[in-house]
Amino acid sequence: MGRLLAVCFAVSATLSASLDNGLARTPPMGWMTWERYRCITDCSATPSRCINEQLIKDMADRIAEDGWLEAGYTQVSIDDCWAMPERDDKGQQVADPSRFPSGMAAIGQYIHSRGLQFGTYSDIGSKTCAGKVGLQGHFDEDARLFASWGVDYIKVDGCYEELKDMQTDYPAFGAALNKTGRPIVYSCSWPAYLPHHCEGSDACMASLMHNCNLWRNYGDVDDSWQSVADIVNFWKRRNGTDEMVRAAGPGHWNDPDMLIVGNFGLSHSEEQTQFALWAIFAAPLFMSNDLRAISTESKEILQNREIIAVNQDPLGKQGFCAAGCDGDLRVWVRELAGQEAAMVLQNAGTGGDGSNITIDSSMISWFAPHSSFAARDLYAKTDLGVFSGHLTLFVHVSSCRMLRLAPKQVQSVFV
Ligand SMILES: *[C@@H]1O[C@H](CO)[C@@H](O)[C@H](O)[C@H]1NC(C)=O
Ligand SMILES: *[C@@H]1O[C@H](CO)[C@@H](O)[C@H](O)[C@H]1NC(C)=O
Ligand SMILES: *[C@@H]1O[C@H](CO)[C@@H](O)[C@H](O)[C@H]1NC(C)=O
Repeated sequence: MGRLLAVCFAVSATLSASLDNGLARTPPMGWMTWERYRCITDCSATPSRCINEQLIKDMADRIAEDGWLEAGYTQVSIDDCWAMPERDDKGQQVADPSRFPSGMAAIGQYIHSRGLQFGTYSDIGSKTCAGKVGLQGHFDEDARLFASWGVDYIKVDGCYEELKDMQTDYPAFGAALNKTGRPIVYSCSWPAYLPHHCEGSDACMASLMHNCNLWRNYGDVDDSWQSVADIVNFWKRRNGTDEMVRAAGPGHWNDPDMLIVGNFGLSHSEEQTQFALWAIFAAPLFMSNDLRAISTESKEILQNREIIAVNQDPLGKQGFCAAGCDGDLRVWVRELAGQEAAMVLQNAGTGGDGSNITIDSSMISWFAPHSSFAARDLYAKTDLGVFSGHLTLFVHVSSCRMLRLAPKQVQSVFV
């Protein structure tokens, strides 16, 4: 652990090196229990909505059978509330036997049998946020236990932990995961707990990159537009030179939390906006919804292959707000492989019908000045044409348009 920490501070100013376990080369995608199912454990009152084996198997079945897997959603993750509040006689963590009678290894096998990866959750402190047993004092044994269950991904929360200990404990648990020899994606929650969220600190971001495959920067998402807007506002004040934006890349991602698309809190256009912005953010795409009863409209958003391709772009660069960021008419950009660009034209206004938003090639720093570009509308799934330097589109309030742009030679500007 001493060596690990020395490494992580020595290169901290550069944001160049990162955790090298070969995992999460593009943002992870899947389904996670927490936002929709929280800590619902009374299965006699709500048998189809509690955290138990059946819920997890149902979701694995839906992902495997309803086109989600083909679209890129490859994981089922059990968040808090699978474990008992105390360890067993042997000092081991155990799943609640009334809700997981077959045990976690069996659930892992079921998920794997459906061609999916098995994600779970614990906490770096003495207890999880919901009061189940935490990792504190048992890093090596717990890492080995999770590896023996076939866990492929673990989210580690930060409740019941002193802030001053996070900087050493998160790297130490990462080292314990590495020692198991099993490839396990490591999701850290530590900056979400820091009052400054690592803002303005390259050293803080570097230590995340060196120790975690992804990390939660900010608070939990809830099922409302206000909650999504709070997270979006945290991101909209960062430009392309911001240390958080620069910290993202293959194997190491910022995590603005789950997609709430398919639940109760967002309108259709707000669902489109959350999904479009999460693609710009190079965010992990974890749905937390009921895949047994999702609307056609929400499913169409979440399975939009062209927007998923933006999220999963191999260059792995995170996008940012490039124009209008302090107001309602915002332009978000993300650099894609092949010098292409993804853009979201977001109208965050809430009154009236809508407004025009003009995009300009000067908003895209890697395009040549005044360059012409071809534009495709990713929700309408139509090519809009080739434009000489700028394009104006109408965007309704509380809505967005999402585009993919490719630079064109000046000679070939014929619409
Ligand atoms: C452990 O760390 C080493 C060095 O970073 C890396 O090469 C290896 O892939 C890691 N192994 C696992 C299982 O994470
Ligand atoms: C990005 O934001 C920082 C801090 O607000 C500012 O100093 C810098 O000039 C901005 N860079 C660009 C390229 O806009
Ligand atoms: C938006 O732009 C179009 C074309 O430039 C124009 O015809 C239209 O009147 C504008 N709409 C609004 C609301 O400004």
